[in-house]
Amino acid sequence: MLPTRFDFPKNFIFGAATSSYQIEGHQFGGAGSTHWDSFASAPGNTAFGQNGAVACDHYHRWPEDLDWIAAAGFDSYRFSTSWARIMPDGRTLNPEGMDFYDRLVDGMLERGLKPALTLYHWELPSALSDKGGWQNRDTTARFADYTTHVAQKLGDRVWSWAPVNEPWCVAWLSHFLGHHAPGLRDIRAAVRAMHHITLAHGRAVEALRAAGRHTVGAVCNFEYSLPADDTPSAAKAAQLYDAIYNRFFIGGMMKGRYPDLLMPVFEPHMPTNWQDDMSVIQSPLDWFGLNYYTCKRIAADPDSVWPHLKEVNGHLPQTEMGWEICPEGLSHFLIRTAAEYTGDLPLYVTENGMAGPERLIDGICDDPERISYYHQHLDAVRHAIAQDVNVAGYYAWSLMDNYEWAFGYEKRFGLLHVDFDSLQRTPKASYQAWANALGAQTC
Ligand code: FCB
Repeated sequence: MLPTRFDFPKNFIFGAATSSYQIEGHQFGGAGSTHWDSFASAPGNTAFGQNGAVACDHYHRWPEDLDWIAAAGFDSYRFSTSWARIMPDGRTLNPEGMDFYDRLVDGMLERGLKPALTLYHWELPSALSDKGGWQNRDTTARFADYTTHVAQKLGDRVWSWAPVNEPWCVAWLSHFLGHHAPGLRDIRAAVRAMHHITLAHGRAVEALRAAGRHTVGAVCNFEYSLPADDTPSAAKAAQLYDAIYNRFFIGGMMKGRYPDLLMPVFEPHMPTNWQDDMSVIQSPLDWFGLNYYTCKRIAADPDSVWPHLKEVNGHLPQTEMGWEICPEGLSHFLIRTAAEYTGDLPLYVTENGMAGPERLIDGICDDPERISYYHQHLDAVRHAIAQDVNVAGYYAWSLMDNYEWAFGYEKRFGLLHVDFDSLQRTPKASYQAWANALGAQTC
């Protein structure tokens, strides 16, 4: 059993989340090539070389998918528009692509779902990646144009707007650690991408304001950084990890300032006159979103290159991703975000969930681990609310099993099981648990 609606404040929003490239089927509807298509084509980058060409075929099956969300009793659907679907070369409109989202948003409204739209969940059009992608300042201007088009077309119906999903993944994971497209491992590329994606956020906020939108926020990911032991060097290493992962982007957006701890290393790589961008980056927001999954135990590693740290295994139960289940980190970030960055601004948990070991057997998909994970994290949210943090909503990741990026289709985060041969959706036990918690009578 999960806590129910009645265990949360009145008007608290419950939602389910997905992203375009992970579910739509990018080969349909005249979408342009993205850096994820070419990244996935090189050996070793994604499991079995898998990509999002077909994914869950949401492009054709979206009415059924929206029906599932509504039938569970969710209030809102967090989805993303694909830049390369709407503008295949990053600049030129593809009416078929925009029409898809037009129908999708209408479909949400018909079912009483509040559309929560993210403009960039990682599928950069290849034509822009050819010109340096997020290392190139011009990409931020293109992103603002794309934002304006989407805001003009869908603005009258979309409930909330987030420019960029998880800037840490867009910049650090993809340009320093090399795990996501474009797969670079280069400090200069990473630092420039970090600043440019944060600037893209600011420029999109300005574009949304110019288009008259009033529910504009941000979505950053947070990982609870714990010292691996009680040495001062581990404490320092965990602090540095925290600065890169958890403080850089929100620091820029909410305070117009990046962490001092990072600047001696970052400064030589920052674009010229970057300070002049901070007022745009700090454009006021109406809400702030936190994606949270796990904690990391960090130790110093003086023999490695900067940031001279390493991850050490922890003792908590782990998900199929090898991520420790650490709900206390979610309370920690909600409380800290309000105390240090956002004050009374409404906070949303915009993603939270787990990949589990469940299998579909005789039409039944039992996933008690996922129900327990949600339970523990919903309790963590309640804990923050009890400390007077203004948490206004929670989105489960994910509505359905999907393309989990570098892990391909192996890791299943869904409330709906997807058979990737037949593409049939089957509700898992966790879907039913949500339906019970939200007061819906299904199945
Ligand atoms: C987040 C991403 C989302 C999904 C989950 C598991 O970092 O936003 O697309 O991959 O992790």
